[in-house]
Amino acid sequence: MKAIILSGGKGTRLRPLTYTGAKQLVPVANKPILWYGIESIVAAGVTDIGIIISPETGEEVKTKTGNGDRFGANITYILQDKPAGLAHAVKVARPFLGDSPFVMYLGDNLIQNELGGFLTQFKESQIDALIMLRPVPNPSAFGVAQIDDQGRVIHLVEKPKVPPSNLALVGIYFFAPTIHDAIDRIQPSPRGELEITDAIQNLINHQQQVEARQIEGWWLDTGKKDDLLEANQIVLDTCLQSSVLGEVDAKSQISGRVQIGARSKLINCTVRGPVVIGEDCHLENCFIGPYSSVDHQVTLIEADLEHSVILRGASIIGIQQRIVDSVIGQRAQLKVAPKRPKALRFMIGDDSQIELA
Ligand code: DAU
Repeated sequence: MKAIILSGGKGTRLRPLTYTGAKQLVPVANKPILWYGIESIVAAGVTDIGIIISPETGEEVKTKTGNGDRFGANITYILQDKPAGLAHAVKVARPFLGDSPFVMYLGDNLIQNELGGFLTQFKESQIDALIMLRPVPNPSAFGVAQIDDQGRVIHLVEKPKVPPSNLALVGIYFFAPTIHDAIDRIQPSPRGELEITDAIQNLINHQQQVEARQIEGWWLDTGKKDDLLEANQIVLDTCLQSSVLGEVDAKSQISGRVQIGARSKLINCTVRGPVVIGEDCHLENCFIGPYSSVDHQVTLIEADLEHSVILRGASIIGIQQRIVDSVIGQRAQLKVAPKRPKALRFMIGDDSQIELA
């Protein structure tokens, strides 16, 4: 059994963060989204992993993630020269996959369920594909499945305007090598992509065995800002363990589950968990409320935040109002003059969103 993780694509919905980096490396609770996928695949016992990368962000993914040693895996990087679709990515990975069955994991998806049980069911049933489904309120944003009374998949359609059900395809799939023939039989969709949804439908059309399981735990597709904040909240809620390695002065108050990384300093701060603060941060006169992730090398002075994600190297100084539901990009600087400011001075990247509520 092998695995591929799709970490190419453009990440247009997470701009401007994805102008300078891969969307799969955006951190959730200070860990790149992609790494949760790798860990979950390794935990299911699959260690031969191919990661699909794009020419734009591939080097960053490689440098950060490495050869797999830190995960107990053997990682091979596979370059997809253009984001021509999920089935196209499988085509590009064919030399790596050979005739092995494989699990395919979309690098921007996070699921709570362990994969081990699904993997065992897939291996024992000797079917051509096993897909995961989850009811969602907005099925038009996903691949959608129609199933019969016995739970068999009868029809799959990608991002339909009129969805045949509320069951979305989760971005984790188990395939036998027969999927390669199905991919060879399909054509690009109207949006110009070779869709994995169409390839699975093609298996069904050829009377091959496709089964579905509904997942019970949470599932997050971190494509947009609000999804990212929700993922951050859920992961902090369910996975964070307290540990304080940095320095916290006597005037600071820490409550709830809080992680503070090595060499970070907190001076006169109140922190209410769940909160994660990375390494080498400087926090002074701050309130850090629940569901906040502060990445490494961040400076926060006279700042008040909650339910927000602050990326590496950012600084926030002198903002009196509470910052909520916000994502602040790497090395971004927000600063307000100590007296009431008379002017606002900005240098804001393309596609940024500023809301003075
Ligand atoms: O998240 C679940 C959904 O994922 C499914 O319900 C849909 O059926 C499936 O098509 C997919 O839809 P998305 O629109 O969310 O796919 P997205 O373009 O965001 O790509 C998913 C991941 O695969 C992302 O990490 C980027 C990567 N990718 C994407 C394309 C198109 C590649 O590596 N290569 C590609 O060519």
